[in-house]
Amino acid sequence: VSGDYEPIDQEFLDDFATLSSFGATPAGGVDREAGSPADLAQRAWFAQWLTDRGFRVHTDDIGNLFGMLEWVPGAPVVLTGSHLDSQPLGGRYDGAYGVLASAHAAHRLNQKVAAGGWRPSLNLAVVDWFNEEGSRFTPSMMGSSVFTGKLAGSAALATTDAGSVTVAEAMADSLGQPWTTPVQSYAEIHVEQGRILEDTGVTIGLVTATWAAQKFDVVVTGEQSHTGSTVMADRHDALVGAARLVVAVRELAERFADAPLHTSVGRFDVLPNSPVVVPREVRLNIDLRSPDPAAIAAAVDLLRTTIAAVSVEVGVEIDLALSHAWDQQPYPAAGVSLAAAAAQRLGLSHQEMMTIAGHDSTNLKDQVPTVMLFVPSVGGVAHNEGELTADEDCLAGVALLSEVLTDLCSEAPAILR
Ligand code: GLV
Ligand code: MN
Ligand code: MN
Repeated sequence: VSGDYEPIDQEFLDDFATLSSFGATPAGGVDREAGSPADLAQRAWFAQWLTDRGFRVHTDDIGNLFGMLEWVPGAPVVLTGSHLDSQPLGGRYDGAYGVLASAHAAHRLNQKVAAGGWRPSLNLAVVDWFNEEGSRFTPSMMGSSVFTGKLAGSAALATTDAGSVTVAEAMADSLGQPWTTPVQSYAEIHVEQGRILEDTGVTIGLVTATWAAQKFDVVVTGEQSHTGSTVMADRHDALVGAARLVVAVRELAERFADAPLHTSVGRFDVLPNSPVVVPREVRLNIDLRSPDPAAIAAAVDLLRTTIAAVSVEVGVEIDLALSHAWDQQPYPAAGVSLAAAAAQRLGLSHQEMMTIAGHDSTNLKDQVPTVMLFVPSVGGVAHNEGELTADEDCLAGVALLSEVLTDLCSEAPAILR
């Protein structure tokens, strides 16, 4: 990366190192699922960071954490952020990079305003969206889904983790009042989590659209019995049915290799999970993604056919329920060109691309003009302790986001759609 901006920002790198210490794992990752002690501790650190720099901190009724810079009393706000929570044994960059980049970019803009070098038309707020990962409490993108009215706050607060703790309980000391300031636009920067940018040697991804996604909760119900004494013909082994499904899901991807279709089973719970017991029930989830929604629809049809066959052959019941989905949808073209022009001014190489992963911007883009930016992920490693983005790419992203936010905050306040 060679850009027309200050390439070294030791303060950003130091803050990122501090942030990465919350929930740090021996292998260099982080483990700070939503509402865990590590998540709450980093939120407290982040809130203090914001307060120390003159941001007004606000927590909403689902635990989204905001830091507001009110330059123009009563004006709508430009939001920028991502998420601080991580997957179990996750990486340091996923989400956290975007939150800290947003905070530093906003702080830079605030210093410009304070120095009299720039007069914005809109206010700016940094946000850490609660529970983007959806690992401890599903679904993912929970805070931004509630914020955008896609998920009822009451349902989100009642969601339980594996130990029956609710979101309301985990976040009891961290809930406030709903956000009421009109939002004019949103910008998010995130690590790519793939290796397109690395392969092409480009620094910035300008996200033009999201792949479609469909996630299912599946319950396979059999009958509990003795692994030794029950005659084979009498068994209703839920695990055998579930195993057949796992393989079928994997094979779906091969059948749609041209679409392409990405498929996975990420969670798998066996009951009672005891050595001498034929399992009575397995709960698993299925995650299907494609840039072509028709491929997902066709894959789901095939899956239903497989489910019908496996149910009969194994003697189990299989229930498939859609739990979370989003369409293949564009990000606003105006945001893509605004970001491209900003990258051009900074001398940063850039290319348009789709996002395969979901982001809080996936929700926000349906409500307000939204800009989504990527910086490269080394080797495309994601949801893994080994996630890495080069310092120079992180700093290029902060510079670009600062430029994009300057443009967004300079826009005249508009009637929201
Ligand atoms: C993120 O929430 C994803 O499912 O990609
Ligand atoms: Mn993320
Ligand atoms: Mn993630």
